[in-house]
Amino acid sequence: MKNGDAKNFGRVVADGEKTWNADACTNRLAARIRREIDILKTTTIKETFDRLCASCRLEDKLWLDCYTKVTDLLDTEHCTTEVIDDMYAVYAIVKMLQNRFPAMLPHVHRVSAVCMDLGKTMGFTPHDVSVIGALGVLHDVGKLSISDAVFFKQGPLTALEWEDIKRHPAIGYELIKPIAGISELAELILAHHERWDGQGYPQGLKEEEIPLFSRILTLADSLDAMINDRFYRKALSPPHTVTEIKRCSGNQFDPMVVEAFFDIIRENRHTLSFLLPLHDAL
Ligand SMILES: [Fe+2]
Repeated sequence: MKNGDAKNFGRVVADGEKTWNADACTNRLAARIRREIDILKTTTIKETFDRLCASCRLEDKLWLDCYTKVTDLLDTEHCTTEVIDDMYAVYAIVKMLQNRFPAMLPHVHRVSAVCMDLGKTMGFTPHDVSVIGALGVLHDVGKLSISDAVFFKQGPLTALEWEDIKRHPAIGYELIKPIAGISELAELILAHHERWDGQGYPQGLKEEEIPLFSRILTLADSLDAMINDRFYRKALSPPHTVTEIKRCSGNQFDPMVVEAFFDIIRENRHTLSFLLPLHDAL
């Protein structure tokens, strides 16, 4: 994976250095993020957060939860200049997601919640629960690089347009890796479209070559697509959703993750009301 000189993105921004060496598309996006950070940095981090809160419409308040999930990974108890730079980078990226894809918010919020519930039930440490929660929020950050013409296209995509879309895990990797406080998310973002059977992208990893958190994210992300309306189809019924998850176990999904998920549903060990209808379908 090409990583260039993109060390410490937040700190690079702080120092005003230009050491980003990813491809042109990622470079342009990185430059936009740097400009957004410069705007945020005209205030203190507290004023920035307060301003972000104030600018949120009521329905956007979930984004604040998203900021919190991601910034939980930063070492705010020892709030050095480096941590503050990372925090500005996180705020800038989440703000850009909010502005570009307002409809993405409920989706990433639910995906993040399912990931965290699964993580807790599987015995993850509080830190790891934070990691997987933040992964739920940021996994599609690379989609910021996709043009409106492709992203919002009604109708079938060309092969080239698909290639464009399939670059988003790698671009997400390039953007997140240099932000020291959340860089552990980068490999997980890179692997979020891999499949258990090795037929995913971008690296064609299979089975346990894929990081566990990415395997959990894959299930949570697909589940959310199944249980909600899409512009091209209605939501699947609960029985249909269960059938579909079972069908994909062992090919798209890790069977162990599917089993853990079904255990949670069967025993109602989750905290999410939107999962309740699946209980009776099992
Ligand atoms: Fe994705």
